[in-house]
Amino acid sequence: MKINKFLLPALLVLSIILVYFNSDDIVESKEVNIYTSRHYDADDLLYEQFTKKTGIKVNIISGKGSALIERLKAEGANSPGDVFFTVDAGNLANFQKQGYLQPIQSEAIKQVVPVELRGENDEWVAVAKRARVIFYNPELVNENEIKNINYEDLSKDTWKGKIVIRSSSNMYNQSLVSSLISNLGIEKTEEWAKGLVSNFYRKPQGNDRSQIMAVANKKASIAIANTYYIGIMLSGKGGQDQLNAANKVKIAFPNQGNRGTHINISGGGVLKYSPNRENAEKFLEFLLSQEAQNHIVNNTFEYPVLSTVRPHPLIENFGEFKMDKTSVADFGKYNPDAVKLMDRVNWQ
Ligand SMILES: [Fe+2]
Repeated sequence: MKINKFLLPALLVLSIILVYFNSDDIVESKEVNIYTSRHYDADDLLYEQFTKKTGIKVNIISGKGSALIERLKAEGANSPGDVFFTVDAGNLANFQKQGYLQPIQSEAIKQVVPVELRGENDEWVAVAKRARVIFYNPELVNENEIKNINYEDLSKDTWKGKIVIRSSSNMYNQSLVSSLISNLGIEKTEEWAKGLVSNFYRKPQGNDRSQIMAVANKKASIAIANTYYIGIMLSGKGGQDQLNAANKVKIAFPNQGNRGTHINISGGGVLKYSPNRENAEKFLEFLLSQEAQNHIVNNTFEYPVLSTVRPHPLIENFGEFKMDKTSVADFGKYNPDAVKLMDRVNWQ
């Protein structure tokens, strides 16, 4: 009988304790789950630095964007995902459109990331920048001929059979076309794309680095590719062939006399059902810290978002240039138009 008398209050106390420790509002676990489609080894060190600084354990779930979307779809409201971290504004916008992100609250983040480098409703932000530029072979192209070039000029007959660029299924190209749609409208961009495709040296094949190699090997005169690849190639990380090739090409930054060179981003957002949303924002804040920005630019050869951080010397050597301030959110907005347009002009 005595046991029953104490059992009831004891159970009540126990259940209160259990509820307390299970409530997300009161106790947030010391971990953060990051869904990422970035594939840079250097990111692992970044995660380690974050843990060292905050005591928050980082769990990585990596995969292609489409695989991560499938996973999030299956997990629904029970998803353990806190952060989505990837490359290209088009990919971030795609997650947002499908409803997998939520607005970022952190004022610290909004203070350092300019509005043009954020998604709609601040659902994602840039943590690094990359420029999509022209690589040319100075033995085939006169510097004077190219130094004032605009993307718009690439459709001119002078470049017939001289241009290499990867396929239209690549998001970097879809975002470049979206930026042109944002600035010129669909009709003019379609005319341009038609001319560009008619100037291709070959049917699009390979990645950005293959295009730069084709220019170094004098197959084509100019290639369109992202800046950080030349950093990787010049660093020797890609091997001797790539290093030799990188030394044979030069960079032209398009549209310096007007809106500036096309800029894309690496970035992240907080996932809709994030169980550790404070940690998720802390992680994004960390990526925008001086320490993390230095690490990013020195390992991925991207441009920093923080104005106090310098790019890697191999990248800084190419000089300062005017960056296009077209909102990167537009790349998501116009992506469906860009994809259809590229299809119409038979950009394979
Ligand atoms: Fe890339």
